[in-house]
Amino acid sequence: MLELSDILMTKASSIERKIYAKSSLVGISHGLEDMIVEFKLKSEIFVSFQKFKFFMVEFDRYMILDSLCKKVFVFARNIDFDKIKDFKNTVFIELNDDDSMIEEWNIIINHPEHPAVFLSFSADILKETLIVMKNKLSKYGVEYNPSKINYNKEKDIVTRKMRFFINRTLSEIEDKSSQLITKNNLLEKALSENGEITNEIIKRLCYAAEYRDDDSAVHMARMSIYTSILYEQVETSQNKIRLMNYAALMHDIGKIGIPDSILLKAGKLTSEEFNIMKTHTTIGARILKGSKREVIQMGYELALSHHEKWDGSGYPSGLKEKDIPLTARVVAISDVFDALSTARIYKKAFPIETRIEILKSQRNKHFQGELVDLFLENIDRIIMCKKNIDLKFNNHTDEDVFSMLFNNPMSFFIEC
Ligand SMILES: [Fe+2]
Repeated sequence: MLELSDILMTKASSIERKIYAKSSLVGISHGLEDMIVEFKLKSEIFVSFQKFKFFMVEFDRYMILDSLCKKVFVFARNIDFDKIKDFKNTVFIELNDDDSMIEEWNIIINHPEHPAVFLSFSADILKETLIVMKNKLSKYGVEYNPSKINYNKEKDIVTRKMRFFINRTLSEIEDKSSQLITKNNLLEKALSENGEITNEIIKRLCYAAEYRDDDSAVHMARMSIYTSILYEQVETSQNKIRLMNYAALMHDIGKIGIPDSILLKAGKLTSEEFNIMKTHTTIGARILKGSKREVIQMGYELALSHHEKWDGSGYPSGLKEKDIPLTARVVAISDVFDALSTARIYKKAFPIETRIEILKSQRNKHFQGELVDLFLENIDRIIMCKKNIDLKFNNHTDEDVFSMLFNNPMSFFIEC
């Protein structure tokens, strides 16, 4: 076997188990092919592709090689001969299912004045490949035996430089790829852990705020789902829709700063008490203000503006129409709709028909008219989601429901 191919095979073997091996080898083979093109070398190329579609990716490159090379032999499976009619100097050789070489990619480049270059994933694979190639080629009348090629390693300075260049390049690619993969894995792990921690903290913080208000995890889950259903009708960014699942939970986080005597009061609030109650919007905004995280920024917007009304009669700023952030206009509808379904000491639970009538009556008053229409267009889905959630949490204590809320991604609640 030739020295250069030995070196390359050893290198290839050592990186066999690494996922970047394929791209390294493809990169090197492209480099070799480019060299043939650049120096117009009358070489022979023997290359195997696992699938014909992989060859098609390289179609243009091989059209050029076809015009320059002494001969190109392409081994592939399920060759579509219609697509390769224009090749003049390339022989396409069909591989069978039981040919071991179809499992891996190999390339052999040979030139009478230069050494053969073998690239493969391992010595074993290359060995098998050479056997299969040799047998198949002999059926095409080509007697090719690369191990018999005469190579004088001291004679050709260009060859030695080339060998040095290829091996150094391959090593460099390996090292850099390895470093990148390690760093990327660490980064992905950190990001994923960070994301999970953030989401869990959001849920627990909202629980702390909602718990005092006697609302349940089920309300939080339902509200978040209605919000998602409506929001995805008006928002195209999948990222924003995903963030909204968590951000919506934060809209009432400011209730944490409202005294129990007001928050938990059974009867109607006095106007003074109601003014204090209203500050849960600005308290929430203060808690969430200035975060670099998109989900908290969205939570800030919601906490501050979810009690604004389309006609400008809401609080804390009396914002009107589209001056109110879209996210807050969406949450306003789903929050009120679900709150109307919950009985309190001072109010009864309304049946679905009444709740729909209330939403309609607040068209372009409390809520943006178009959003009410979209919500009602999806009312069947919303009712089905509610049924599924209630069923999922039937016979569970509030504690169980909260622990499910904390320990599962929102998709667990959203799948209806
Ligand atoms: Fe609120």
